[in-house]
Amino acid sequence: MKAIVVEHPGSPAELTWTEVPDPEPAADEVLIDVAASAVNRADLLQAAGHYPPPPGASPILGLECSGTVAAVGRDVTGWTVGDQVCALLAGGGYAERVAVPAGQVLPVPDGVDLVEAAGLPEVACTVWSNLVMTAGLQAGRTVLIHGGGSGIGTMAIQVAKQLGATVAITASRPATLERCRELGADIAIDYHAEDFVTALPAATGGRGADIVLDVIGAKYLARNIAVLADGGRLVIIGMQGGSKAELDINALMRRRGGVIGTTLRSRPATGPGSKAEIVARVRAELWPLIARGAVRPVIDSVVDLPDAARAHRRVAEGGHVGKVLLRAPGGAGVSEPADGVLSHTPDREDKSRGDR
Ligand SMILES: NC(=O)c1ccc[n+]([C@@H]2O[C@H](COP(=O)([O-])OP(=O)(O)OC[C@H]3O[C@@H](n4cnc5c(N)ncnc54)[C@H](OP(=O)(O)O)[C@@H]3O)[C@@H](O)[C@H]2O)c1
Repeated sequence: MKAIVVEHPGSPAELTWTEVPDPEPAADEVLIDVAASAVNRADLLQAAGHYPPPPGASPILGLECSGTVAAVGRDVTGWTVGDQVCALLAGGGYAERVAVPAGQVLPVPDGVDLVEAAGLPEVACTVWSNLVMTAGLQAGRTVLIHGGGSGIGTMAIQVAKQLGATVAITASRPATLERCRELGADIAIDYHAEDFVTALPAATGGRGADIVLDVIGAKYLARNIAVLADGGRLVIIGMQGGSKAELDINALMRRRGGVIGTTLRSRPATGPGSKAEIVARVRAELWPLIARGAVRPVIDSVVDLPDAARAHRRVAEGGHVGKVLLRAPGGAGVSEPADGVLSHTPDREDKSRGDR
């Protein structure tokens, strides 16, 4: 098969579409013919040589994919050759085929096309596991989501709204702030123009956030704690602003606050706290919201997989809203791009707006 190989790690890395050995599914795995994958910021870090795959994972980039089941291992139940699926991967998505533990496979939700579905597993599992399973989000709470226009942010806004929360976001561009409002954000803070430490309390009658979903890390630690409501939870899932910071324990104790850090990729495939556990919850609780159109994939653009370097540049430059998808050669679901990059089509955009 062919796959994207990182020839020279760096920023930007040299990414080459080249022949590699086919994956062999283990007894508990499903082999997927990939229709599409999607770019995650972690892919850029891995391509730069800063984020090695966990032990045993494919060295090929790609934390999610959609496609058609091509083979099932002998211990697999519930999946059949020909099923259209999407999957949460520990790696290997930027390829024509990928083998994945059966517990990380999901059906393509009703109303979502096969290529779009490639952008769902990573954001769905990250958002559901952190907001719902870890932070215990409930109706009536206020959630602050940093990077509202990111793949993660666009899913988190919609999920939090569906669960009855008041949603605040930070973002940096007028168009992104507006898109976040369209997705349901009640409070949109331009992080270049305003300090969320003053803007959020001002917009919430002084209350602040019951949950902060943070992708910045060290640079925002003190300020995130400063906006926590009593009993609030700061859930850190990214380190775009560094990994080491001083924690003001006094400030945390006064709020009876909690700080939690999680990663999805390093979780075990099965067992307590595993990817399979999250995937099962996502399938049971979030997939119905997607199937009835209450939560939609937000797609920025679709790039042909052999041109993955172009997709990485789009994410590195910023300004995208939602997911950048990578369509495998022969992947179904979108029309042929003239220049290798498809913008998100208006009819799908209208649908995602009209549903809320
Ligand atoms: N721990 C996990 O399991 C896990 C899983 C998936 C993703 N993540 C993390 O989640 C983050 C989003 O991932 P993604 O793939 O969706 O990335 P992405 O689409 O590239 O988004 C990055 C986002 O960061 C925002 N941002 C940058 N600097 C900011 C600042 N100072 N304040 C507020 N927002 C800022 C950007 O906002 P603007 O464009 O508006 O400037 C952009 O929306 C990444 O940090 C990633 O590593 C973690």
